[in-house]
Amino acid sequence: MQKNIAVIRGDGIGPEIVEQALKVLDKIAELFCHNFEYTDVDMGGCAIDKWGDPLPEEMLAKCLASDSVLLGAVGGPKWNDVPGNMRPEKGLLRLRAGMGVYSNNRPAKIWRQLSSASPLKASIVNKGIDFIIVRELIGGIYFGTHKTEFADGQKVAVDELKYSEAEIERIGRIGFETAMKRGKKLCSVEKSNVLDSSRLWKSVMHRLADEYPEVELSDMLVDNCAMQIVKDPSQFDVVVTENMFGDILSDEASMITGSIGMIPSSSLGATKCGLYEPIHGSAPDIAGKDIANPIGTILSAAMMLRFSFDMENEADAIEDAVSRVLDAGYRTGDIFSSEEGLTLVGCSEMGRLIIENIQKG
Ligand code: IPM
Ligand code: MG
Repeated sequence: MQKNIAVIRGDGIGPEIVEQALKVLDKIAELFCHNFEYTDVDMGGCAIDKWGDPLPEEMLAKCLASDSVLLGAVGGPKWNDVPGNMRPEKGLLRLRAGMGVYSNNRPAKIWRQLSSASPLKASIVNKGIDFIIVRELIGGIYFGTHKTEFADGQKVAVDELKYSEAEIERIGRIGFETAMKRGKKLCSVEKSNVLDSSRLWKSVMHRLADEYPEVELSDMLVDNCAMQIVKDPSQFDVVVTENMFGDILSDEASMITGSIGMIPSSSLGATKCGLYEPIHGSAPDIAGKDIANPIGTILSAAMMLRFSFDMENEADAIEDAVSRVLDAGYRTGDIFSSEEGLTLVGCSEMGRLIIENIQKG
């Protein structure tokens, strides 16, 4: 198959982790006789430096013309003082909105090889951690009006949080459908004891529940959910939540699985053209040192093959290779411990080992 992939290396560790994911894709192309073409796209801080804009129109156009987009990470302290609407992260938000990818799927699954890397007690980890956070990605407080005004002699900042029924319904359906393909348990997370947007969220979820009688729907307040994720993560199958709650809970969920460096994500909308990115940031403190964990990005490339290109065997081949490398005891710094039998490796060596372990069938 011939596929055109838009590649956003971004800032910080972005270029080094994306490099490894592209080498993995090249290996898959060679083994399974595909042709992946890569189109470089500038976004984030590097695009601000080069073009004065975190996502110039023609860069978005390149993404929209592609079969899918692979992204490393954007942002860094260098751009901390640029105005809010010109920050590197704004490029990412414009890309998500421009692609219409409203549904962000973030798996929180513990690899059996990494159970000792989880900060949770073995008694909790051993009950199993395997759930998905379905995060609404192009609405809510991220996309409301942001403004800072002067009132009564001081600055007052406003961020608007708004959701329509239609926006809630389309992500709600993804939540129910994801649950139907898994354990048929859906937990809708909101703050309906305080927020109107959450009360609407909850009522739409309950209306949809009638259409999915096989799915067991529960409601949970976001503060309680934050607590339950560390107390007993085995209770969750699929969590569906709004944009900002999903951002926060997915970082928490990744940490209990060992490292945020391991977690991929897919973002999809009405078409098969998706955005695939690890959920971690650009980690400027370790950029350029060849010590970052490329696995989250490599697994994001696997998700792209599975969800956008229907290449199930190819995606399995990547995930199996990652598993074999972890079995053999290779670890980047974020998942390394003094446990016997482990070998500390850098970013490019981790990529090389994964490629070496990719097998067909
Ligand atoms: C994420 C990130 C982004 C977000 C930032 C970089 C804008 O934290 O993908 O989780 O908040 O969505
Ligand atoms: Mg985040």
